[in-house]
Amino acid sequence: MGDVRSYEHDVLVIGAGGAGLRAAIEAAAHGAKVALICKSLLGKAHTVMAEGGAAAALGTVVDQDNWRVHFRDTMRGGKMHNNWRMAQIHAQEAPDRIRELEAWGALFDRTADGRINQRPFGGHTYQRLAHVGDRTGLEMIRVLQDKAVHAGVEVHMECTVIKVLVVDERAAGALGYFRETGRFALFRAGAVVLATGGIGKAWQVTSNSWEYTGDGHYLAYDAGAELIDMEFVQFHPTAMVWPPSVRGILVTEGVRGEGGVLRNSQGERFMFRYMPEMFKGDFAATEQEADAWVTGDRMKNRRPPELLTRDVVSKAIVKEIEDGRGTPHGGVFLDIASKRPADFIKQKLPSMYHQFKELADVDITKDPMEIGPTTHYVMGGVKVDAESQMSTVPGLFAAGEVAGGMHGANRLGGNSLSDLLVFGRRAGQHAAELAKRRGRPPASPRAAVDAAVQGALAPFERPTGENPFAVQAALQDVMQRKAGIVRDRSGLEQTLAELERLTERARHVGIAGSREYNPGWHTALDLRSLLAVSEMTARAALERTESRGAHTRGDHPDSDPKQERRQVVVRRDADRMTVRWEAQPELPADLAKLIKEGA
Ligand code: FUM
Repeated sequence: MGDVRSYEHDVLVIGAGGAGLRAAIEAAAHGAKVALICKSLLGKAHTVMAEGGAAAALGTVVDQDNWRVHFRDTMRGGKMHNNWRMAQIHAQEAPDRIRELEAWGALFDRTADGRINQRPFGGHTYQRLAHVGDRTGLEMIRVLQDKAVHAGVEVHMECTVIKVLVVDERAAGALGYFRETGRFALFRAGAVVLATGGIGKAWQVTSNSWEYTGDGHYLAYDAGAELIDMEFVQFHPTAMVWPPSVRGILVTEGVRGEGGVLRNSQGERFMFRYMPEMFKGDFAATEQEADAWVTGDRMKNRRPPELLTRDVVSKAIVKEIEDGRGTPHGGVFLDIASKRPADFIKQKLPSMYHQFKELADVDITKDPMEIGPTTHYVMGGVKVDAESQMSTVPGLFAAGEVAGGMHGANRLGGNSLSDLLVFGRRAGQHAAELAKRRGRPPASPRAAVDAAVQGALAPFERPTGENPFAVQAALQDVMQRKAGIVRDRSGLEQTLAELERLTERARHVGIAGSREYNPGWHTALDLRSLLAVSEMTARAALERTESRGAHTRGDHPDSDPKQERRQVVVRRDADRMTVRWEAQPELPADLAKLIKEGA
């Protein structure tokens, strides 16, 4: 272990997006000595891609809003598959977390009378998203990182964690390496919080940047934890499709929230044709009514169909394109120019204005945008206790996107920013309390550390081995084609067979050069997590022989009542991935009634 630098903390937080920062702040507030590990630089997190806002029933714009309506929307949006207790905690605590963030310095947009402004978003009954133009996630990260640094959290940047260490069946720290130097670091800790975000880089077209390779999902799996709902991957309906170099970059749902409409190549506003039975009464049936909602009385008129949940809108777009009504570059049109004046668009959506102007030479105040779906978020993740966020491995916590359960089969836009505040805080608190009870972290087993270091360095012994980038590209290709928005049995079986071949190829990847900033080596190590999360998704998707929320089976287009509130649980058994079904706890009668009858 001579080459391995050692650190000791009470709480180790892996991942420095919103959930990780919020967990670190809370753990420090509970007296813990905290380390925060970022795979890239502090401040660069996928949290910033939640542009349109954070959902919380503050009731600043619509008095009638409260946690019950938010809970109901979340459960209906998640197709009743959510962990009900997480959805309840989230709806109840989100307003306090937003007000707290404001007290720490977040500059939310205001209403005319000076209250936090809230904008409409898909699946939310009322205007509910506290926002900062279309840069909400960015503002949240700015405030949280400031707070974390001032709270004395020790930050380790450009460090990738490759193993969570388990001693006496409890998480006791992690092993990582610094990307700049290639040197290994051992972080011993009384409790570990995973806050690594999602798995989007397993697909070709994604809003996620290079860091989102499913590290936390893999680390938890490798440590023996259970994962749930990995078949539920969210394809955000609106991303850029042109030019090719920017395909997949997010176009915020805020565009539709502020009145943007979707049209096919024939100019038809097609979403009216895709209204699910469940939501019929809540949405406008005509263009006239939809437009009246945007610019007129929102309590008298019903919402436009563009504000249906993301699973519904994405599938509608795919169908339009498949049926030959797509745009020249394989998308559909998103038009706000014909609905809102230029000043309004520039004020409410400044980033979108610049993004399209600079990247596609399109002026969105004059012309429609060409958009299509992009891999954005995974609803599945580490199975956690709703109150504490602890996984099935004692001492290992998970918060934010890496944790499963909260969003069920489909997440509502804006719920991730409030999720990471609510559950980041809870994870930080419980991790700190546990670490205090445990005392000094135990020594890490030398053999396990040595084996992990040797495994990580093995690609250097094969300088002419398989190219890691080629394996990564092949993986993204098969996931995009066969495990995307619409899947079927044959495609998923082909995916699993291809993943097996790629796993074998990954065993033979080779790296030339040194350990300093070596992108080939970084990719070789990322392959472990990419392969694992892809297999989890494909296996779980094959098991669920129905369509529900974001999981659409072309060969099983309907929902199956027998699979309702039943989960696919994935875990490692020796070197094999196993899946099993588990029934979710029943909803308490009062909450079931609330969802059925309204708040
Ligand atoms: O469209 C958006 O601004 C994304 C928000 C979210 O994923 O919550």
